[in-house]
Amino acid sequence: MRALPPQGQDWPELKQALLDAKARDYSWKRGRMAVFFYYLDEALERLQQEAYMTFWTENNLGQRAFPSLAKLEGEVTEMALSLMHAPEGAAGSFTSGGSESIFLALLAARERAGKANPNIVIPDTAHLTFDRAAWYLGIEVRRVAVDRERRSDVMAMAAAVDYDTIALVGSAPNYPFGGIDRIEALGQLAQQHDLWLHVDACVGGFLNPFLSKLGADVPAWDFAVPGVTSISADIHKHGMAPKGASLLLVRDAALKQHHRFESSAWARGTYAAYTAQGTRPGGAVAAAWAVMMHLGEAGYLDCARRIMAARATIAAGVAAIPGLEVLPGNHAIIVYRSTDKALPIGRVATAMDQRGWLVSRQAEPDGIHLHINPLHAEVAEEYLTDLRAAVAEAREGAAPEMAAGRAY
Ligand SMILES: Cc1ncc(COP(=O)(O)O)c(C=O)c1O
Repeated sequence: MRALPPQGQDWPELKQALLDAKARDYSWKRGRMAVFFYYLDEALERLQQEAYMTFWTENNLGQRAFPSLAKLEGEVTEMALSLMHAPEGAAGSFTSGGSESIFLALLAARERAGKANPNIVIPDTAHLTFDRAAWYLGIEVRRVAVDRERRSDVMAMAAAVDYDTIALVGSAPNYPFGGIDRIEALGQLAQQHDLWLHVDACVGGFLNPFLSKLGADVPAWDFAVPGVTSISADIHKHGMAPKGASLLLVRDAALKQHHRFESSAWARGTYAAYTAQGTRPGGAVAAAWAVMMHLGEAGYLDCARRIMAARATIAAGVAAIPGLEVLPGNHAIIVYRSTDKALPIGRVATAMDQRGWLVSRQAEPDGIHLHINPLHAEVAEEYLTDLRAAVAEAREGAAPEMAAGRAY
């Protein structure tokens, strides 16, 4: 087992060791990954780093010590609330990521409802983070099959609601297929039964508004829809900020009390927090603030335009390859599969992997999943050239099959 070195080493040597360690990773900077990263250009990369470093060690738990961070967090939250058509009196919390935002939403829904055996009713395309948060929180999850368009089947969800249901969920969009659920109908159902409706816009929060502006068909999904109680929106996804930045937004600031912990049961007096984290990195807030202020509406529109261009090129290119089929969709997520028994998609995945592309294997249907970000506009043609070669190789039967379900 490795132990601490007896004597410390100098930074130049350690820096080289870190660079050597990452040399064999897949290259996100060359657009080789369609999962895990969001990249625009070197100018934004430098801005992210410098903004983060400005507050690199400040602790955002200590907002009395760092009123600057409280102000920046407030401004980030307000910009997001206004983007998502929140009414006066809405509020939010800055979290470490989509998982924490969703955890807090379910905690708040549970505390608000106060049911003995709580359950949530969600479309089966919702992120597994709901199941993970529900596991932490002692909540039963009722996953309901989606309809033929792979969107929430609201009648079937209504049938799954009972006395112990505390919340409904819709995604905007969901991660497996990129579809946006029927949020308006879910809002009506939520209001009928006085349920918390959480919209998971971890992927779409900072993209949907701009896709709409570009004329894409984006069904209503945000606080403009009556009945939407909370929204999770990740600034570290299409908000283009470095990792560790998400928001849980609530329609009414009073709802925040349901995910607020407070206790005085120790020697140090009162400890209170709205988030699951205690110590929180100030750099994440500063970088999110700087990215949002730097990109502004025009910058986010440009990102959305690049994503749509990449999507169009890749989807058309894949569809033109005999034996491959692209599932219907118009968001940043593309799923394709094989329609030809002589062309196992797992072999195509292996052949792409061997060409340096990190491949996400979709389990249902057996296929390949891509989450497009702005950089992909620059590598779309390269991707297609390699895919055509990978398909030819897969037909020859040389490559072993990459197992399905290797999403992460
Ligand atoms: C739709 C959706 N919700 C939630 C999450 C979880 O977010 P995080 O990985 O930031 O915790 C993801 C992550 O990909 C997602 O795609």
